[in-house]
Amino acid sequence: MENLEKYEMCWLEYKPLGNKEYCKRWENIIVLENYYDVKPCLKELKFFFQNSLGLDLKYHKNFIDKPSLIVGRLEKIKEVFKPAEDWNKLINDEGFIIKTLYFKENQRIIITGKTFNSLIYGIFELIKRIRLKEDLNSLNIIENPKVKFRMINHWDNLDGTIERGYAGNSIFFKNNKIIYSERLRDYARLLASIGINGIVLNNVNVKKKEVELIEKHYLKKLLKIAKLFGDYGIKIYLSINFASPIYLGGLITADPLNQDVALWWKRKVEEIYDIIPNFGGFLVKADSEFNPGPHIYGRTHADGANMLAEALAPFNGYVIWRAFVYNCMQDWRDTKTDRAKAAYDNFKPLDGFFDDNVILQIKYGPMDFQVREPVSPLFGALEKTNQILELQITQEYTGQQIHLCYLGTLWKEILEFDTYARGEGSKVKKILKGEVFGNKNNGFAGVSNVGNSVNWTGHDLAQANLWTFGKISWNLDESLERIINEWIKLTFGDDKKVIENISYMLINSHRIYEKYTTPLGLGWMVNPGNHFGPNPEGYEYSHWGTYHRADFKAIGVDRTSRGTGFTLQYHHPWREIFDDIEKCPEDLLLFFHRVPYDFKLKSGKILLQFIYDSHFEGVEEAEKLKEKWLELKGKIDKEKFERVLEKLNQQIKHAKEWRDVINTYFYRKTGIPDEKGRKIYP
Ligand code: GCU
Repeated sequence: MENLEKYEMCWLEYKPLGNKEYCKRWENIIVLENYYDVKPCLKELKFFFQNSLGLDLKYHKNFIDKPSLIVGRLEKIKEVFKPAEDWNKLINDEGFIIKTLYFKENQRIIITGKTFNSLIYGIFELIKRIRLKEDLNSLNIIENPKVKFRMINHWDNLDGTIERGYAGNSIFFKNNKIIYSERLRDYARLLASIGINGIVLNNVNVKKKEVELIEKHYLKKLLKIAKLFGDYGIKIYLSINFASPIYLGGLITADPLNQDVALWWKRKVEEIYDIIPNFGGFLVKADSEFNPGPHIYGRTHADGANMLAEALAPFNGYVIWRAFVYNCMQDWRDTKTDRAKAAYDNFKPLDGFFDDNVILQIKYGPMDFQVREPVSPLFGALEKTNQILELQITQEYTGQQIHLCYLGTLWKEILEFDTYARGEGSKVKKILKGEVFGNKNNGFAGVSNVGNSVNWTGHDLAQANLWTFGKISWNLDESLERIINEWIKLTFGDDKKVIENISYMLINSHRIYEKYTTPLGLGWMVNPGNHFGPNPEGYEYSHWGTYHRADFKAIGVDRTSRGTGFTLQYHHPWREIFDDIEKCPEDLLLFFHRVPYDFKLKSGKILLQFIYDSHFEGVEEAEKLKEKWLELKGKIDKEKFERVLEKLNQQIKHAKEWRDVINTYFYRKTGIPDEKGRKIYP
């Protein structure tokens, strides 16, 4: 495997750690497993010891009379250490335990769990703790992932481009070929270190050439990738085109209830598992944005998904079916037509009709990854359906990795949202953990922000989004403060000022971005197509008028029970709260209501003045982000420092453009000037 590209290693950069004595006594490792079964773990540890500690990790098959690390699955540990029999109940299949204790006359650190995945996670955790300079004499760590599926979705195309990719080209594909490089191993390491266990390699929009990815010639190449990621506990999945039986099989239909179609998929799945035994399953975007699906044949999404699920079930494979379904060609001048209602309308009636190995993948909001949307009412509505929460790590609508927009704050709010499905406390995070409805096959999918750029994510600070995605999908209750702190220390070191300023930048950035773009739940207003830059009337499917229907008196869509009826998709008390313009959270005011510009907000300001102020403040705060960064000069690696500074300069320029375009738009619509007399139009 050649590795010609130059790239950095994000939070896994193993720089020398000052105090090597701290670890000297742990340079022996006893491995209770077959060496090859744990080779990736041992390589990682060895590499870390060498690079960060200048120590040569010594591998032993048998016990030695010295302090040592001990690695092995629980079943092996129990053979040599009786008390470990009680540990079984402490962990689930992927959970791990790291304990420092005395036995066989010496201090030992045991790293164990039920599966090889557990050992990988345990090793990365131990390395992290050492790098964070934690006391190794008293480790007592028990960690369990709270959901089963922790997936990354790549929207990579075979030609090497990435749909909504802002960090270079694909690391998997180029010129219709599959790339196999050492970089993929490093990517697998990065993902394993944050607990990811599944990866969809190709774009959900499966066009001509990509349809062929499930053909033999591609599958054979994909096997190498599946093995490589498999070494790190990560299964590969593919997005498929629902009409594949027509494109590849020469059938005249893809009707899921047609026996020939079902048989074709059955044979196809057998062929896939014959070549790639640890294949994860399919991701399907059907009946949405011109992708074929069961509706064409008058069938339901359940018919379509279950047909595939039956083919995958014998191999423990899964169908991940996306809920991002809406009719983009619908005439929405009819006041009851509302894109926000589509996912619920399509899938609520199907609750209980999906097979066990089908998982519905639901975007966090009812629209499309806007800077702020309410949480999708499907969370809380589906009781008998497995669910994956889909988040966008890539910053399609949130500044395209030019703007700093840390998404952890938004994601936390989503997880903490109380759906009230079973009364108070039915939070999204609890639904995902299976604590509300008892569904077991739940999880997270994050649309990747990774490409082949030197720092993987374009903006160096956008690495924090990938890190955070992994961390919250592993532990939905983890505090953001800890997540952010650890990331900064592992990436930039532990200087106090560095931690303080970067924390500030991350925590505040989403709100700042929202302020100078589209506050109050307005969303969109971006250029159609590339979704970058301000364009107040620029909604994609705007052949039916603007998205927000602004006129000279009011703006927003009435989604209440008196309007499109979207609020009725929520449980009590949300439906009443969202329905009431006085009670609706102001963050979401223009999402739910049509509001006159002179409407008084809680602060006493009128709506229009709030919009003006928000844009001015947003720009000032974006400038402050830069100031915070400049204070770190000399404390951050020079190249990284300059790269981020360059992005912050661009961000400020764009923020001003947003401010001016949006404020001018409203000034021209209303004729109402800014009460503070600031210059509105450029
Ligand atoms: C958005 C995005 C598309 C993507 C789609 C999806 O609309 O702009 O590029 O294909 O979401 O999630 O399927």
